Amino acid sequence: MPEILGASRLTVELGARRGLLRHWPGVRAVDGVDLSVAAGESFGIVGESGCGKTTLARTLLGLQREAAGEVRLEGRVVSGRTPAEARRDRAAIQYVHQDPGAALDPWWRVGATLAEGLAIHGLRDAAERRARIAETLAAVGLDPAFAGRYPHELSGGQQRRIGLARILLLRPRVVILDEPTAGLDLSVQAAVLRLLQELRGRFGLTYLFISHDLSVVRRVCDRVAVMYLGRVVEQGTARQLFEAPRHPYTRALLAAAPHLDGRAAGPSLPGDPPSLRAVPAGCRFHPRCALAEPRCAAEEPLPETVAPGQDVACHRWRETAPAPRQPSIETA
Ligand SMILES: Nc1ncnc2c1ncn2[C@@H]1O[C@H](COP(=O)(O)OP(=O)(O)O)[C@@H](O)[C@H]1O
Ligand code: SF4
Ligand SMILES: [Mg+2]
Repeated sequence: MPEILGASRLTVELGARRGLLRHWPGVRAVDGVDLSVAAGESFGIVGESGCGKTTLARTLLGLQREAAGEVRLEGRVVSGRTPAEARRDRAAIQYVHQDPGAALDPWWRVGATLAEGLAIHGLRDAAERRARIAETLAAVGLDPAFAGRYPHELSGGQQRRIGLARILLLRPRVVILDEPTAGLDLSVQAAVLRLLQELRGRFGLTYLFISHDLSVVRRVCDRVAVMYLGRVVEQGTARQLFEAPRHPYTRALLAAAPHLDGRAAGPSLPGDPPSLRAVPAGCRFHPRCALAEPRCAAEEPLPETVAPGQDVACHRWRETAPAPRQPSIETA
């Protein structure tokens, strides 16, 4: 399938401030990211908290301006614009907030919030708005009566469904789902994932699926990129990454993931990721990597293709033979 959303060398700086006499540099929360998402696929972004997933999402959406690099949507370059122009240009991309409950106005009934989005997008006729809202609530598995509820009257799963209804009304082509199952019970998680699969087919959507939960990513994603401190360190098909991960960071994440079959997780990754204000020289994973050698602290590894469709940025990828199968995160 052709690319629908892409980025090349995308770099984002956060927190830079300019005073009268001094300039405080920011941190590079996204640093030279290359991605190419094909129309209709579900593309996963995984990595520990703080690695830049949400910043990448906000930049692809146009809410955060890129410091360098390019964003492409449906074959057009859409970067290098002001934030207002960027959002207008990228209306085909919509974002489902990490905490959809917090994104709803607590004083407004759900129907009013949904109608507001439609009005902003030019649907003036109130009867038509009501019909579209009822139809979309049904599509996300909710009774139209939910339009009369307030956000505090919704469960976590229902809030997720309303978050989805809200963006479906805007007829997106690409949906960025930021931690869509975080904080949900396992049974509710499973129902939300089933709904996402169904909506993808029914509305012809492409997903950028952000999660730190590898079992969820394995269940729903066709391809996956692994981020570490603002960089993509490995990407490939879900099968390649889960069955033959080559980057030591991907392998450590998989080993530390909780097992769906109830067995205890393996050892967690040693230490915390370093601060973005003190990114290690050479390979930025080297202080935590069991395979690090002197070269790793001096020379930054560039992404190399290790198998068709699988790219890895590690000096020692030739020595990381495909790991044994990971039954721990196998899905039923
Ligand atoms: N306004 C800001 N100024 C400086 N650093 C920030 C700012 N916002 C976020 N960060 C840092 O940027 C990094 C990436 O954050 P984020 O994109 O939210 O990561 P993730 O979604 O993967 O958890 C984090 O280390 C965070 O502390
Ligand atoms: S380049 Fe070196 S430190 Fe970095 S992941 Fe590979 S082996 Fe580990
Ligand atoms: Mg986040």
